[in-house]
Amino acid sequence: MAKKFRALTLGEFVVAQQNAFPYATGDLTRLLNHIGIASKIVNREVNMAGLVDILGETGKENIQGEQVKKLDDYANEQFKLILGSSTEVCGLATEEEKESVSFESDLSREGKYIVCMDPLDGSSNIDVNVSIGTVFCIYRRISEVGTASEEKDFLQRGTEQVAAGYVLYGSSTMLVYTTGMGVTGFTLDPSIGEYFLSHRKINMPDLGTTYSINEGNYINFPAGVKQYIKYCQENDLSTHRPYTSRYIGSLVADFHRNMLKGGIYIYPQTKAHPEGKLRLTYECNPIAFLTEQSGGIATDGMGNRILEIPVTSIHQRVPFFAGSPEMVKLAEKYMKINS
Ligand code: AHG
Ligand code: MN
Ligand code: MN
Repeated sequence: MAKKFRALTLGEFVVAQQNAFPYATGDLTRLLNHIGIASKIVNREVNMAGLVDILGETGKENIQGEQVKKLDDYANEQFKLILGSSTEVCGLATEEEKESVSFESDLSREGKYIVCMDPLDGSSNIDVNVSIGTVFCIYRRISEVGTASEEKDFLQRGTEQVAAGYVLYGSSTMLVYTTGMGVTGFTLDPSIGEYFLSHRKINMPDLGTTYSINEGNYINFPAGVKQYIKYCQENDLSTHRPYTSRYIGSLVADFHRNMLKGGIYIYPQTKAHPEGKLRLTYECNPIAFLTEQSGGIATDGMGNRILEIPVTSIHQRVPFFAGSPEMVKLAEKYMKINS
């Protein structure tokens, strides 16, 4: 039988968490609630995507030379608007902005936090009604309060994250986040527009039977990844192999499944992306924080913990191996043998 909780809303839950810290000012609580509100507005557009003239591309290219979809643009503007008019955030870095954005108002400059975000993750799935997401993480600024945010605020290591999370626009919409005390999930009741606590403490299984990787790139993978894939495909009843391959092409959705059920997500270096494809600041670091907080491991495949990788630019890419600890350890072993 499904576990029963009292129907706690996202707002109630974050306030209850804040109350555990007597000196908390409530800024982080307000900030998480603002992200929740912005995500509901984006969710409304996502749900309308097949109905209104929002599908397709804007004709613009982002800093990475990728086509910007209309919903990418919409989500970016929406989060910018809401965070920019909040008083907790002094600056924002997103996939769609070449440089970080510093919010100009006096109130914003008093904000203690900065946010890094992928406003719409899984863009290739927008037009075909497949799950997409939003990824975010929050840092305390290191520049002086009362001034404009600076680039150094956005180049902090992942270990410095105060909170991280994602919104999954899937068969239902979920907001999942951590502040370093485990991972909690909320599900949106669209009829009243409220997120309710649905997953109190998410624990990723130590070992799963799902591997998630874009196998279309197989011939361009490092030898260690090729060998690990073969291991996943071999017959061995005692280890439940062959494993199942599941790849949606939206990091948020692939990760969410693997976190709940056990599994591994890999986006390694390839010929097209010699440094990996995923971006450290607004994709890998937040997902790595959630991975670790749910009991998993996130590395670059070469023994380097994602959260400790030095950040030199906002759009820096990194190979990404994240998921159930036993699976990531074994994939890394194959990588090391072949290096
Ligand atoms: P985005 O839509 O924000 O650019 O991110 C897409 C990312 C990630 O979500 C996904 O796992 C991966 O790129 C898919 O890449 P491939 O199509 O190369 O597999
Ligand atoms: Mn993305
Ligand atoms: Mn994106």
